Amino acid sequence: MKLLVTGGAGFIGSNYIHYMLGRYSDLSIINVDALTYAGNLHNLQSIDQSEQYRFVRADITDRAALEPLFAEGLDAVVHFAAESHVDRSIEQPEVFVRTNVLGTQTLLELARQYGTGKFVHVSTDEVYGTLGEEGLFSETTPLAPNSPYSASKAGSDLLVRAYHETYGLTVNITRCSNNYGPYQFPEKLIPRMLQQAMEDKPLPVYGDGLNIRDWLYVEDHCSAIDLVLRKGKSGEVYNIGGRNERTNLQVVRTILAELGKPESLITFVEDRLGHDRRYAIDADRIRNELGWTPKHDYESGIRETIRWYKANRQWLKDVRDGSYRAYYDTRYGSS
Ligand code: NAD
Ligand code: DAU
Repeated sequence: MKLLVTGGAGFIGSNYIHYMLGRYSDLSIINVDALTYAGNLHNLQSIDQSEQYRFVRADITDRAALEPLFAEGLDAVVHFAAESHVDRSIEQPEVFVRTNVLGTQTLLELARQYGTGKFVHVSTDEVYGTLGEEGLFSETTPLAPNSPYSASKAGSDLLVRAYHETYGLTVNITRCSNNYGPYQFPEKLIPRMLQQAMEDKPLPVYGDGLNIRDWLYVEDHCSAIDLVLRKGKSGEVYNIGGRNERTNLQVVRTILAELGKPESLITFVEDRLGHDRRYAIDADRIRNELGWTPKHDYESGIRETIRWYKANRQWLKDVRDGSYRAYYDTRYGSS
């Protein structure tokens, strides 16, 4: 099977490539990534000489750069590439629309023209908006995105749906809750708080810290996407989540306790604009129809993640000082 993975140098994409190459010897992966600030090829250093793997630096809105790859003949596309950070989308919405909406449409159009097998679109629970104290997001919950990020992801979901309905493209959409684990860029809650705590710096908690997220260890997201790729019914949406609801304060306190740091490091700061209060996922469809079960509970997953960041301080340091960006030139030559 020849698989095109977009955004494979990012957090979930790189975990997914490791997951797939570790499992399937008859698979070849082309990783297309523009290497924005969020793309880090160090994440893939251990496999980048593998005959099963090829990296192509390209922007998903650049049709001319992508076309030769589709012309080679692809069995499937797994589409992770996106602008992914809500805070950045509030500061700079345009790039979210360009990458997430136009980039997705560019890929869909090529998949249609070249008869690519299946198109798996990796989306998010944030397209459903926010929940009150009760209830869960199911696949039939109406889309009600609240941030420019989630609105752009909802727009891309609708384009995927339209390419299925109009042109009969074989597609799946996955909507997962908050991921955590190795290689997550330290702009997101868990790695940001870990980094601050390890350096005895203040941990900035937005608002009252009582917003709830439903956490899933990244490897469990990868196994779900693998199942959807192989067994998902075309046109279906699959929610993914492990029912691990925690307030942000609970998450931060666990990190401090595991690191043996004082709670006095917690600093309440101005709230995020349009801050969604609660996310929680009903994942019954993927569990019952495809047989997915997450392997990591939250307590062991968070401990494993803390161990990883403690053991990989150099990875964090390279991200912080920007030296991770030099890897492409070192490995592939300057461009
Ligand atoms: P990330 O920001 O860590 O990685 C995104 C990757 O996409 C980077 O490697 C970046 O270089 C690449 N990219 C960005 N713009 C590009 C462009 N125009 N062309 C080519 N490549 C480009 O993101 P992530 O957290 O790994 O998320 C991956 C996907 O999963 C996203 O689509 C996101 O919406 C979705 N998702 C994330 C989470 C989460 O908790 N992180 C949860 C559910 C769904
Ligand atoms: O639900 C899935 C989504 O999860 C993905 O689609 C997004 O790509 C991903 O970034 C994530 O979005 P969130 O906005 O939930 O994640 P973030 O890590 O930015 O924030 C998690 C919660 O922590 C949120 O309530 C805001 C809060 N927060 C975040 C940061 C970075 C803080 O209180 N302080 C912080 O410094």
